[in-house]
Amino acid sequence: MAAAGRGAAPGARVGTGGETEGGGSMGNGSGTAVVTGASSGIGAEYAARLAGRGWDVVLVARRADRLEDLALRLRGETGAAVETLAADLAVPGDLSRVVERAAARDVGFLLNNAGINGYGPFADLDPPLMARVLDVNVVALTTLTRAVVPGMLERGRGAVVNVASLLAFAGSLPPGPLPQRAVYAGTKGYVVAFTRTLAAELAGGPLRVQVLCPGLTATEFHLSTGAEPVPGREPSVHREGGMPVDEVVDASLSALDTGEVVCVPGLRDGGPIEGLVAAELTLRTAARLRRS
Ligand SMILES: NC(=O)c1ccc[n+]([C@@H]2O[C@H](COP(=O)([O-])OP(=O)(O)OC[C@H]3O[C@@H](n4cnc5c(N)ncnc54)[C@H](OP(=O)(O)O)[C@@H]3O)[C@@H](O)[C@H]2O)c1
Repeated sequence: MAAAGRGAAPGARVGTGGETEGGGSMGNGSGTAVVTGASSGIGAEYAARLAGRGWDVVLVARRADRLEDLALRLRGETGAAVETLAADLAVPGDLSRVVERAAARDVGFLLNNAGINGYGPFADLDPPLMARVLDVNVVALTTLTRAVVPGMLERGRGAVVNVASLLAFAGSLPPGPLPQRAVYAGTKGYVVAFTRTLAAELAGGPLRVQVLCPGLTATEFHLSTGAEPVPGREPSVHREGGMPVDEVVDASLSALDTGEVVCVPGLRDGGPIEGLVAAELTLRTAARLRRS
């Protein structure tokens, strides 16, 4: 089991059918990377890092001005071909445009990073906001993964990184009061289960599949519930602190290089993930024993 942490081996491998093979360093590019949620935070940093590693990049988010600023900077700094695709992933017509671009033959990397929180007490949650959280965090992520995987398999190369959250594991844990987050944590639980199960299905094949599970990260994330973008052309950072985005991206890229499926930035060894897998095996065995 590989170690996990912010240092040399920052991911955590899931041991049962969870490794993906891939070839070489999928963080280093030849081809195009599609990055959703590229107008700020983790997505903007990840896009910059991929452009620096030789990928051409398609930047996707709602705020076109932010995307244009980043594209201009990355073209100048890296020489990469950078496209912008302004789209609201909760709007079916917009999602279709992104799906069409992502399914093109040149795409070898998909970062499903766009996400919103919709925080608030469940009983008071605005139904349209709740639907938006599900559409962005679950439907768009799954639809885009489905758009890229067949072509990547055919071409024998590709990587998909889906951004979840530690709240997939810790959403119900004390201490309180933390933001009310049942739907958000539920969507991130989906991202973890979906990605791990897909990775198991594709294990031994040419693709790298990873679920990135950051803890609190220093971004704009807590400045909006996600119904509307955070205003302003300059990216900002919430006041809660958290891990710098470059460390989150470092962890993900290192885990990609080693083919680790579950990446928890900051986790110093793989023990907790091994324990999680062991608990899952125990639960599955218990259900089988009861049937026999
Ligand atoms: N920050 C944290 O503490 C933390 C912790 C764990 C996991 N995460 C996850 O990390 C991912 C990135 O978040 P972040 O922390 O970098 O926050 P962020 O700075 O708020 O970035 C979120 C990105 O998603 C985009 N986005 C939101 N709604 C969208 C929509 N309807 N269509 C297209 N793009 C949309 C935003 O762009 P526009 O507004 O321009 O559309 C923005 O680029 C999310 O999936 C989040 O759940 C964050």
